Amino acid sequence: MLSGKTILIGITGGIAAYKICELIRMFKRQNANVRIICTPNAMNFVTKLTLQNLSQNEVGIEEFVIPDFKPEHISYADEADIMLIAPATANTIGKIANGICDNLLTSVVCAFKKNILIAPAMNFNMWQNDIIQENISKLKQFGYEIIEPEAGFLACGTEGIGRLCTLDKIFDRTVEILNSKKKLAGKKIVITAGGTIENIDPVRYISNYSSGKMGIALADMAFNQGAEVVLISTVDVQRVYKVVNVKSAIDMKKSVEAEFDNADCVIMAAAVADYRVKNIANQKMKKTSADEITLELVKNPDILQEISARKTTQKVIGFCAESENLIQNAKEKIQKKGCDYLIANDISRSDIGFSSDYNEVVILDKNGIVKKLERENKREIAKQIFEVIYGQEKNSSVNRELCSAKSC
Ligand code: CTP
Repeated sequence: MLSGKTILIGITGGIAAYKICELIRMFKRQNANVRIICTPNAMNFVTKLTLQNLSQNEVGIEEFVIPDFKPEHISYADEADIMLIAPATANTIGKIANGICDNLLTSVVCAFKKNILIAPAMNFNMWQNDIIQENISKLKQFGYEIIEPEAGFLACGTEGIGRLCTLDKIFDRTVEILNSKKKLAGKKIVITAGGTIENIDPVRYISNYSSGKMGIALADMAFNQGAEVVLISTVDVQRVYKVVNVKSAIDMKKSVEAEFDNADCVIMAAAVADYRVKNIANQKMKKTSADEITLELVKNPDILQEISARKTTQKVIGFCAESENLIQNAKEKIQKKGCDYLIANDISRSDIGFSSDYNEVVILDKNGIVKKLERENKREIAKQIFEVIYGQEKNSSVNRELCSAKSC
């Protein structure tokens, strides 16, 4: 399953380090080349000899040993197809989140350009600590994938969240990434995300509750599947692919148009304001003696409708946020907008949609419902959306039948 792949495992100084011995065997059984780097503290929990025997490779610990005149942190980073850090202690997580490179492991992380999976393990109170959680959020923002710790009995004798996730989970995710075909290689995919911000004056604005999570999940998935990605976002995110930060619908329209001609696919996941303020005040508006004031609004351009009208080879995908009559409104909206697919979600539910990490959507084309995607995390929903757009279009009649049978 993993022939020809090199997996680099970084082990840090936590009690769960002993479990990684079995993980190495799991990868070796699938013919992977496994390389190991340990922090000096990891050596309190496992021995170099054990790891060397299991991986059948030299184990890296010291940073300034340069056997063949090639800096080790560069050669480890060049050679591996994926890196996983397990267990990842609060200390190493903090260093990576802040760009500190004070040992071989953290230096390799800094030089590593492919996928990095991080499986934290620590005491319950440490995991709950706001600073640790902030570091975790920061790592996610920068594109590191966190395999969350699980709840259960901890080595320190307490119960709670902090235990290293199961080895099967780490193994499955690593194999999934390594074997995922770059289905979108060679395609340029443009995705919008977040709610637009329409200024009233220098300190006030009109916006909406969109978190941008769905659009960002789509962009991450497209990038993982090999696409050239342009994310046009009102939410400030750092990624290795191109991110264009915008605020208003007018800004977003300009950025979408600039990327449109050579795009293969444009996905309008952003919640674009339908109206903007007619006269944006240059100075802060002062309170007056009047009990009521009127804000005059003018219509924003409909970006989705405009690009759908001028598309040639591009696939154009819209989203449809509805708080009632989801399917009926979605069917009318796709006809009006003229896009290839419309992804409809019900924003009246608090367990999916706007600021949730989960979503449940119905995908429609101009002939009606193509597929219903049951409640799942947004990463999984993103994966399935691309399967419909690029992979399973020929099966759409089957899905349509399934959908009408379930009257979704
Ligand atoms: N959209 C757009 N430009 C706008 C408004 C919406 O490109 N000015 C896009 C959104 O990005 C989304 C789709 O159109 O992909 C549908 O957005 P939605 O808010 O559901 O529909 P609206 O057209 O705004 O209609 P309504 O608010 O009446 O439901």
